Amino acid sequence: MASHHRLLSLLFLSLTLSISSGEKPVHFHFYQHKTVSGSNPSAVKVVKGPIPLPVGPYSFGDIVVVDDPLTKGPDPNSPLLGRAQGLYTVMNSPTVEWVFNIVLTCGEYNGSSIAIMGRDEIPLPVRELSVVGGTGAFRMARGYVLLKTYSVDITNGDAELEVDVYVYPAKV
Ligand SMILES: *[C@@H]1O[C@H](CO)[C@@H](O)[C@H](O)[C@H]1NC(C)=O
Repeated sequence: MASHHRLLSLLFLSLTLSISSGEKPVHFHFYQHKTVSGSNPSAVKVVKGPIPLPVGPYSFGDIVVVDDPLTKGPDPNSPLLGRAQGLYTVMNSPTVEWVFNIVLTCGEYNGSSIAIMGRDEIPLPVRELSVVGGTGAFRMARGYVLLKTYSVDITNGDAELEVDVYVYPAKV
């Protein structure tokens, strides 16, 4: 009976610990500058898909490689906090599929990175992507990303995104 009781209190303790630990995510707020135009782009189309979409400069099957600066404010000259490095593919709808890393380049998490993948259904006001891991302070992390379009130039594809990252560092 006593051991049964101890087992129950252990269960209760681990339950309380797992609820209370990791409930506070680290939150980052960035503006992501995706520049396609000009002589110094941060995003380059490396594969041109065969089926043009009805709106904008993209085709189903496009693959775009990005190395976008992430800044503190919407002004591209505001302090640089990190970069978004990876790629996206364009679906046969206004949806892109992202696979990228956010690498932090200053502050407490300088050098750590956050691995992200997910669907970005562009017409939606807020899109949710998955944090699938990370390095450094974010090794084996989990979390999610909320993406909003801050501004877009539909003719050339230049865009500014507002990015909120909520990342739960692993307790290891
Ligand atoms: C971030 O880390 C790199 C590499 O260690 C270093 O060169 C750089 O000065 C650091 N940046 C800031 C803003 O601390």
